[in-house]
Amino acid sequence: MITGKYPSLRLRRNRKYDWTRRLVQENTLSSSDFILPIFLLDGKNKREAIPSMPDVYRYSIDRISQIIDKAIKNKVPMVALFPKTKKIKKNELGTEALNENNLVCRAILQIKKKYKNEIGIMCDVALDPYTSHGHDGLIKSNEIINDETIEVLINQSLLQAKMGCDVLAPSDMMDGRIKKIRSALDNEGLKNINILSYAAKYASSYYGPFRDAVGSKGSLKGDKKTYQMDFRNTDEALREIALDIKEGADMVMVKPGMPYLDIIKSIKDKFKIPVFAYQVSGEYSLLSNAINKNIIDKNAIYESLIAFKRAGANAIVTYYADRLDKILI
Ligand code: PBG
Repeated sequence: MITGKYPSLRLRRNRKYDWTRRLVQENTLSSSDFILPIFLLDGKNKREAIPSMPDVYRYSIDRISQIIDKAIKNKVPMVALFPKTKKIKKNELGTEALNENNLVCRAILQIKKKYKNEIGIMCDVALDPYTSHGHDGLIKSNEIINDETIEVLINQSLLQAKMGCDVLAPSDMMDGRIKKIRSALDNEGLKNINILSYAAKYASSYYGPFRDAVGSKGSLKGDKKTYQMDFRNTDEALREIALDIKEGADMVMVKPGMPYLDIIKSIKDKFKIPVFAYQVSGEYSLLSNAINKNIIDKNAIYESLIAFKRAGANAIVTYYADRLDKILI
Protein backbone atom coordinates (compact mmCIF):
# COMPACT_ATOMS: atom_id res chain seq x y z
CA MET A 1 0.00 0.00 0.00
CA ILE A 2 1.32 3.44 -0.87
CA THR A 3 1.59 5.69 2.19
CA GLY A 4 2.42 9.38 2.47
CA LYS A 5 5.95 8.52 3.47
CA TYR A 6 6.68 6.40 0.41
CA PRO A 7 9.44 6.09 -0.65
CA SER A 8 11.44 6.57 2.54
CA LEU A 9 14.61 5.54 0.75
CA ARG A 10 15.42 8.11 -1.90
CA LEU A 11 18.79 7.55 -3.56
CA ARG A 12 18.39 10.80 -5.46
CA ARG A 13 19.01 12.74 -2.19
CA ASN A 14 22.74 12.09 -2.56
CA ARG A 15 22.66 13.33 -6.13
CA LYS A 16 20.83 16.61 -5.57
CA TYR A 17 23.78 19.03 -5.82
CA ASP A 18 27.28 18.98 -7.16
CA TRP A 19 28.64 18.97 -3.57
CA THR A 20 26.58 15.95 -2.51
CA ARG A 21 27.67 14.08 -5.59
CA ARG A 22 31.31 14.91 -4.90
CA LEU A 23 30.90 13.87 -1.28
CA VAL A 24 29.73 10.35 -2.11
CA GLN A 25 31.87 9.72 -5.18
CA GLU A 26 33.49 6.30 -5.14
CA ASN A 27 36.19 6.77 -7.76
CA THR A 28 38.43 9.65 -8.75
CA LEU A 29 41.15 10.38 -11.24
CA SER A 30 44.37 12.19 -10.58
CA SER A 31 47.35 12.87 -12.78
CA SER A 32 49.21 10.05 -11.01
CA ASP A 33 46.89 7.60 -12.74
CA PHE A 34 48.38 8.15 -16.18
CA ILE A 35 51.09 6.94 -18.51
CA LEU A 36 51.74 9.01 -21.63
CA PRO A 37 52.78 7.26 -24.86
CA ILE A 38 55.20 9.20 -27.07
CA PHE A 39 55.88 8.32 -30.72
CA LEU A 40 59.42 9.02 -31.94
CA LEU A 41 60.77 9.61 -35.42
CA ASP A 42 64.14 10.37 -36.99
CA GLY A 43 65.17 13.84 -38.07
CA LYS A 44 65.43 17.31 -36.59
CA ASN A 45 62.77 19.70 -35.37
CA LYS A 46 59.94 17.48 -36.53
CA ARG A 47 56.38 17.12 -35.33
CA GLU A 48 54.41 14.93 -37.66
CA ALA A 49 50.67 14.37 -37.55
CA ILE A 50 49.31 10.80 -37.55
CA PRO A 51 46.26 10.83 -39.84
CA SER A 52 44.43 8.01 -38.05
CA MET A 53 44.98 9.55 -34.57
CA PRO A 54 43.63 13.10 -34.24
CA ASP A 55 45.88 15.42 -32.15
CA VAL A 56 48.59 12.76 -31.69
CA TYR A 57 52.01 13.39 -33.21
CA ARG A 58 55.35 11.77 -33.81
CA TYR A 59 58.24 13.85 -32.46
CA SER A 60 61.91 13.99 -33.35
CA ILE A 61 64.08 13.50 -30.28
CA ASP A 62 65.16 17.14 -30.15
CA ARG A 63 61.51 18.13 -29.59
CA ILE A 64 60.45 15.71 -26.89
CA SER A 65 61.51 18.02 -24.03
CA GLN A 66 58.47 20.09 -24.87
CA ILE A 67 56.13 17.19 -24.07
CA ILE A 68 58.11 15.89 -21.11
CA ASP A 69 58.20 19.37 -19.51
CA LYS A 70 54.42 19.47 -19.74
CA ALA A 71 54.04 15.90 -18.46
CA ILE A 72 56.15 16.73 -15.41
CA LYS A 73 54.23 19.95 -14.83
CA ASN A 74 51.00 17.95 -14.97
CA LYS A 75 52.52 15.36 -12.59
CA VAL A 76 52.28 12.43 -15.00
CA PRO A 77 54.48 9.70 -13.45
CA MET A 78 55.67 7.94 -16.60
CA VAL A 79 56.03 8.11 -20.37
CA ALA A 80 56.10 5.16 -22.78
CA LEU A 81 58.36 5.40 -25.84
CA PHE A 82 57.42 3.99 -29.25
CA PRO A 83 59.64 4.39 -32.33
CA LYS A 84 58.66 4.81 -35.96
CA THR A 85 61.65 3.08 -37.47
CA LYS A 86 62.63 3.99 -41.03
CA LYS A 87 61.79 1.28 -43.55
CA ILE A 88 65.43 0.93 -44.62
CA LYS A 89 66.38 0.04 -41.03
CA LYS A 90 63.86 -2.80 -40.79
CA ASN A 91 64.68 -6.39 -41.64
CA GLU A 92 63.44 -9.94 -41.05
CA LEU A 93 65.29 -10.22 -37.73
CA GLY A 94 64.49 -6.77 -36.38
CA THR A 95 68.18 -6.14 -35.67
CA GLU A 96 67.61 -2.38 -35.23
CA ALA A 97 66.06 -3.30 -31.86
CA LEU A 98 69.58 -4.09 -30.66
CA ASN A 99 71.24 -0.95 -32.04
CA GLU A 100 72.31 1.25 -29.15
CA ASN A 101 71.84 4.26 -31.40
CA ASN A 102 68.24 3.47 -32.26
CA LEU A 103 65.48 6.00 -31.63
CA VAL A 104 64.37 4.56 -28.29
CA CYS A 105 67.92 4.36 -26.88
CA ARG A 106 68.75 7.92 -27.89
CA ALA A 107 65.49 9.18 -26.41
CA ILE A 108 66.10 7.35 -23.10
CA LEU A 109 69.59 8.83 -22.81
CA GLN A 110 68.35 12.34 -23.47
CA ILE A 111 65.42 12.14 -21.05
CA LYS A 112 67.52 10.63 -18.24
CA LYS A 113 70.28 13.18 -18.72
CA LYS A 114 67.90 16.10 -18.50
CA TYR A 115 65.26 14.92 -16.03
CA LYS A 116 67.07 12.26 -13.91
CA ASN A 117 64.35 10.42 -11.97
CA GLU A 118 61.71 13.13 -12.15
CA ILE A 119 59.67 10.99 -14.53
CA GLY A 120 59.65 7.26 -15.29
CA ILE A 121 60.45 5.79 -18.69
CA MET A 122 58.71 2.69 -19.94
CA CYS A 123 59.77 0.83 -23.09
CA ASP A 124 58.07 -1.93 -25.02
CA VAL A 125 59.95 -5.18 -25.37
CA ALA A 126 58.87 -6.58 -28.75
CA LEU A 127 60.24 -6.57 -32.27
CA ASP A 128 57.32 -5.25 -34.31
CA PRO A 129 58.60 -1.67 -34.78
CA TYR A 130 61.81 -3.15 -36.20
CA THR A 131 60.82 -6.17 -38.33
CA SER A 132 60.08 -5.92 -42.06
CA HIS A 133 57.11 -8.31 -41.59
CA GLY A 134 55.63 -6.34 -38.67
CA HIS A 135 55.47 -9.29 -36.27
CA ASP A 136 56.61 -9.12 -32.64
CA GLY A 137 58.95 -12.09 -33.05
CA LEU A 138 61.17 -13.98 -35.46
CA ILE A 139 59.60 -16.10 -38.19
CA LYS A 140 60.67 -19.53 -39.41
CA SER A 141 58.54 -21.47 -41.91
CA ASN A 142 55.55 -19.22 -41.27
CA GLU A 143 55.74 -19.68 -37.50
CA ILE A 144 56.57 -17.02 -34.90
CA ILE A 145 59.30 -18.92 -33.10
CA ASN A 146 58.99 -18.53 -29.35
CA ASP A 147 62.31 -19.48 -27.76
CA GLU A 148 64.56 -17.91 -30.40
CA THR A 149 62.53 -14.69 -30.16
CA ILE A 150 63.05 -14.60 -26.40
CA GLU A 151 66.84 -14.62 -26.88
CA VAL A 152 66.52 -11.38 -28.86
CA LEU A 153 64.02 -9.92 -26.38
CA ILE A 154 66.50 -10.54 -23.56
CA ASN A 155 69.12 -8.50 -25.40
CA GLN A 156 66.61 -5.77 -26.21
CA SER A 157 65.64 -5.66 -22.52
CA LEU A 158 69.24 -5.47 -21.31
CA LEU A 159 70.09 -2.75 -23.81
CA GLN A 160 67.09 -0.60 -22.88
CA ALA A 161 67.73 -1.13 -19.17
CA LYS A 162 71.39 -0.14 -19.50
CA MET A 163 70.40 3.02 -21.36
CA GLY A 164 68.26 4.00 -18.38
CA CYS A 165 64.79 2.60 -19.04
CA ASP A 166 62.99 2.21 -15.69
CA VAL A 167 60.16 -0.11 -16.64
CA LEU A 168 60.46 -2.83 -19.26
CA ALA A 169 57.14 -3.74 -20.78
CA PRO A 170 57.23 -6.98 -22.77
CA SER A 171 54.32 -6.72 -25.19
CA ASP A 172 55.27 -9.66 -27.38
CA MET A 173 53.21 -12.44 -25.73
CA MET A 174 55.91 -15.12 -26.12
CA ASP A 175 55.68 -17.91 -23.51
CA GLY A 176 58.17 -17.78 -20.65
CA ARG A 177 59.84 -14.49 -21.48
CA ILE A 178 59.28 -12.77 -18.13
CA LYS A 179 61.32 -15.38 -16.27
CA LYS A 180 64.15 -15.24 -18.78
CA ILE A 181 64.24 -11.43 -18.84
CA ARG A 182 64.11 -11.24 -15.04
CA SER A 183 67.02 -13.64 -14.60
CA ALA A 184 69.07 -11.88 -17.29
CA LEU A 185 68.49 -8.56 -15.46
CA ASP A 186 69.51 -10.15 -12.15
CA ASN A 187 72.67 -11.60 -13.70
CA GLU A 188 73.65 -8.16 -14.95
CA GLY A 189 73.02 -6.53 -11.59
CA LEU A 190 69.97 -4.68 -12.92
CA LYS A 191 67.78 -5.69 -10.03
CA ASN A 192 65.86 -2.42 -9.73
CA ILE A 193 64.32 -2.53 -13.20
CA ASN A 194 60.55 -3.05 -13.07
CA ILE A 195 58.83 -5.45 -15.39
CA LEU A 196 55.36 -4.45 -16.49
CA SER A 197 54.10 -7.43 -18.38
CA TYR A 198 51.51 -6.99 -21.09
CA ALA A 199 50.20 -10.25 -19.67
CA ALA A 200 46.65 -10.17 -20.98
CA LYS A 201 47.08 -8.80 -24.46
CA TYR A 202 44.39 -9.74 -26.91
CA ALA A 203 44.66 -10.14 -30.69
CA SER A 204 42.56 -7.06 -31.35
CA SER A 205 41.35 -4.93 -34.23
CA TYR A 206 41.70 -1.87 -31.98
CA TYR A 207 45.48 -1.61 -32.59
CA GLY A 208 45.08 -0.37 -36.17
CA PRO A 209 46.01 3.32 -35.68
CA PHE A 210 49.05 2.39 -33.53
CA ARG A 211 50.42 0.19 -36.30
CA ASP A 212 49.94 3.14 -38.58
CA ALA A 213 51.79 5.38 -36.09
CA VAL A 214 54.85 3.10 -35.83
CA GLY A 215 54.72 2.28 -39.55
CA SER A 216 54.09 -1.47 -39.25
CA LYS A 217 50.57 -1.50 -40.63
CA GLY A 218 51.23 -1.85 -44.35
CA SER A 219 53.92 -4.43 -43.82
CA LEU A 220 52.15 -6.76 -41.34
CA LYS A 221 51.76 -10.16 -42.91
CA GLY A 222 48.77 -12.07 -41.57
CA ASP A 223 47.59 -11.55 -37.99
CA LYS A 224 48.94 -12.03 -34.46
CA LYS A 225 46.49 -14.70 -33.32
CA THR A 226 49.11 -17.40 -32.68
CA TYR A 227 50.63 -15.33 -29.87
CA GLN A 228 48.18 -12.64 -28.75
CA MET A 229 45.11 -13.90 -26.88
CA ASP A 230 41.74 -14.94 -28.24
CA PHE A 231 39.23 -12.28 -27.22
CA ARG A 232 36.65 -14.91 -26.42
CA ASN A 233 38.60 -15.99 -23.34
CA THR A 234 38.73 -14.97 -19.67
CA ASP A 235 40.24 -17.97 -17.84
CA GLU A 236 43.19 -17.88 -20.20
CA ALA A 237 43.90 -14.27 -19.17
CA LEU A 238 43.98 -15.31 -15.51
CA ARG A 239 46.41 -18.11 -16.35
CA GLU A 240 48.65 -15.70 -18.26
CA ILE A 241 48.65 -13.29 -15.30
CA ALA A 242 49.37 -16.03 -12.74
CA LEU A 243 52.31 -17.24 -14.82
CA ASP A 244 53.81 -13.79 -15.35
CA ILE A 245 53.57 -12.97 -11.64
CA LYS A 246 55.31 -16.24 -10.83
CA GLU A 247 57.99 -15.47 -13.40
CA GLY A 248 58.77 -12.08 -11.84
CA ALA A 249 56.44 -9.38 -13.18
CA ASP A 250 55.96 -6.39 -10.86
CA MET A 251 52.87 -5.09 -12.61
CA VAL A 252 50.56 -6.38 -15.32
CA MET A 253 48.73 -4.78 -18.22
CA VAL A 254 45.38 -5.52 -19.79
CA LYS A 255 45.06 -4.47 -23.40
CA PRO A 256 42.88 -3.21 -25.07
CA GLY A 257 41.11 -1.36 -22.27
CA MET A 258 37.48 -0.43 -22.48
CA PRO A 259 36.16 -3.62 -24.14
CA TYR A 260 38.03 -5.62 -21.45
CA LEU A 261 36.95 -4.01 -18.16
CA ASP A 262 35.67 -7.40 -16.97
CA ILE A 263 39.19 -8.80 -17.33
CA ILE A 264 40.69 -5.92 -15.33
CA LYS A 265 38.16 -6.50 -12.56
CA SER A 266 38.73 -10.27 -12.43
CA ILE A 267 42.50 -9.84 -12.27
CA LYS A 268 42.33 -7.19 -9.57
CA ASP A 269 39.92 -9.26 -7.47
CA LYS A 270 42.00 -12.39 -7.75
CA PHE A 271 45.62 -11.25 -7.63
CA LYS A 272 45.76 -7.96 -5.67
CA ILE A 273 48.67 -6.61 -7.68
CA PRO A 274 49.11 -3.40 -9.69
CA VAL A 275 47.00 -3.71 -12.83
CA PHE A 276 47.29 -1.22 -15.64
CA ALA A 277 44.89 -0.67 -18.52
CA TYR A 278 45.85 0.41 -22.02
CA GLN A 279 43.24 2.59 -23.70
CA VAL A 280 44.59 1.67 -27.10
CA SER A 281 44.82 3.63 -30.32
CA GLY A 282 41.55 2.34 -31.80
CA GLU A 283 39.63 3.28 -28.66
CA TYR A 284 41.27 6.70 -28.74
CA SER A 285 40.44 7.33 -32.39
CA LEU A 286 36.84 6.13 -32.11
CA LEU A 287 36.24 8.44 -29.18
CA SER A 288 38.11 11.40 -30.64
CA ASN A 289 36.45 11.13 -34.05
CA ALA A 290 32.99 10.98 -32.48
CA ILE A 291 33.78 14.02 -30.32
CA ASN A 292 35.25 15.97 -33.25
CA LYS A 293 32.08 15.30 -35.25
CA ASN A 294 29.90 16.40 -32.31
CA ILE A 295 28.28 12.96 -32.14
CA ILE A 296 29.13 12.71 -28.44
CA ASP A 297 30.36 15.43 -26.09
CA LYS A 298 33.89 15.63 -24.82
CA ASN A 299 33.01 14.56 -21.27
CA ALA A 300 32.99 11.04 -22.73
CA ILE A 301 36.78 11.10 -22.29
CA TYR A 302 36.57 11.53 -18.51
CA GLU A 303 33.79 8.94 -18.37
CA SER A 304 35.90 6.42 -20.30
CA LEU A 305 38.86 6.96 -17.96
CA ILE A 306 36.84 6.68 -14.75
CA ALA A 307 35.51 3.35 -16.04
CA PHE A 308 39.05 1.96 -15.77
CA LYS A 309 39.30 3.07 -12.15
CA ARG A 310 35.91 1.56 -11.34
CA ALA A 311 37.08 -1.75 -12.82
CA GLY A 312 40.14 -1.62 -10.56
CA ALA A 313 42.97 -0.31 -12.74
CA ASN A 314 45.83 1.41 -10.89
CA ALA A 315 46.89 3.42 -13.91
CA ILE A 316 45.92 3.97 -17.52
CA VAL A 317 48.05 4.25 -20.62
CA THR A 318 46.20 6.75 -22.79
CA TYR A 319 46.91 9.15 -25.64
CA TYR A 320 44.85 11.72 -23.72
CA ALA A 321 47.53 11.91 -21.01
CA ASP A 322 49.09 14.97 -22.67
CA ARG A 323 45.88 16.95 -22.09
CA LEU A 324 45.10 16.25 -18.44
CA ASP A 325 44.78 19.96 -17.71
CA LYS A 326 41.73 19.94 -20.00
CA ILE A 327 40.31 16.58 -18.97
CA LEU A 328 40.60 16.46 -15.17
CA ILE A 329 38.43 19.48 -14.43
C1 PBG B 1 53.56 -3.84 -30.03
C2 PBG B 1 52.47 -3.01 -29.47
C3 PBG B 1 51.20 -2.78 -30.01
C4 PBG B 1 50.59 -1.84 -29.19
C5 PBG B 1 51.48 -1.54 -28.14
N1 PBG B 1 52.63 -2.30 -28.34
C6 PBG B 1 50.56 -3.25 -31.26
C7 PBG B 1 50.45 -4.67 -31.56
O1 PBG B 1 50.62 -5.55 -30.73
O2 PBG B 1 50.19 -4.95 -32.74
C8 PBG B 1 49.23 -1.26 -29.42
C9 PBG B 1 48.93 0.03 -28.77
C10 PBG B 1 47.77 0.78 -29.31
O3 PBG B 1 47.01 0.29 -30.19
O4 PBG B 1 47.60 1.91 -28.87
N2 PBG B 1 53.72 -5.11 -29.61
